Amino acid sequence: MATQKVVLITGVSREEGLGFETAKQLAGAGFKVIISARNLAKVVALATKLQSADLDVIPLELDTLSDLSVQNAAWEIENRFGRLDVLVNNAGGFYDTGGTALTQTFEYTQEAIETNLFGTWRVIKALVPLIGKSEAGVIVNVSSGAGSFKDPDFGLNALTDVTAYGISKLALNGLTIKLAKELKPQCILVNAVCPGFTATYPGTEAWGARPVTDGASGIVWAATLTKDGPTGGFFRDGKPLDW
Ligand SMILES: NC(=O)c1ccc[n+]([C@@H]2O[C@H](COP(=O)([O-])OP(=O)(O)OC[C@H]3O[C@@H](n4cnc5c(N)ncnc54)[C@H](OP(=O)(O)O)[C@@H]3O)[C@@H](O)[C@H]2O)c1
Repeated sequence: MATQKVVLITGVSREEGLGFETAKQLAGAGFKVIISARNLAKVVALATKLQSADLDVIPLELDTLSDLSVQNAAWEIENRFGRLDVLVNNAGGFYDTGGTALTQTFEYTQEAIETNLFGTWRVIKALVPLIGKSEAGVIVNVSSGAGSFKDPDFGLNALTDVTAYGISKLALNGLTIKLAKELKPQCILVNAVCPGFTATYPGTEAWGARPVTDGASGIVWAATLTKDGPTGGFFRDGKPLDW
């Protein structure tokens, strides 16, 4: 029997969020899923919900902005499993509707970049030694078409606003490419995924957002790639984005 793969997902604090749905789909596919969030009570409640549906899910406290919290999470995973097969960097946010390059504050922009770029980067740096122990390591960075040049609806060339978010996700896409190159010799795949505009907040369906099951399935696709899969790409629904 194949060894059960261990996956860590960051930013799982809401039942409506992409992280929770990704956990549900991956656990349903047979993965051992560690869901994490900076608020332990919230992630424990969500894990309990998934466990009661017979899914193999474990809660973990992890604040991507804290070196100590990230290091503690890495130790915990090392002690319990000795390796990590898949890392899904889902934690993120700061969608600054209305924030243009001239009107958005540096404070907000710095927080967006801290979370969407450096938070993800911090988690990856701490966990690569454990991912390197997997037979086929995979890293998925949950990005956005807002960080691309060619997305016709949300891209950098499409909107004047959403500046902090767009620039932070553009940087995340750049980090994805650099890491994919650096980790290729270790056979660790690193890809960015845009889930598409997804209904994770009330009212967004009315603006055209799609169901969270659909948004999460593209993340699951990238998380379940095998050794010979692509690396350094940017995908939506399992298809490369012209970005
Ligand atoms: N929904 C969309 O249409 C869409 C489209 C493209 C990309 N995305 C991306 O998809 C990801 C998930 O978004 P979502 O729509 O599902 O919204 P969400 O539920 O708000 O997910 C964001 C998660 O990130 C967590 N987070 C923020 N800062 C953190 C930190 N320092 N440490 C740990 N966790 C932290 C939040 O936790 P707290 O509750 O603690 O703040 C929250 O659980 C994000 O990266 C987002 O940019 C979403």
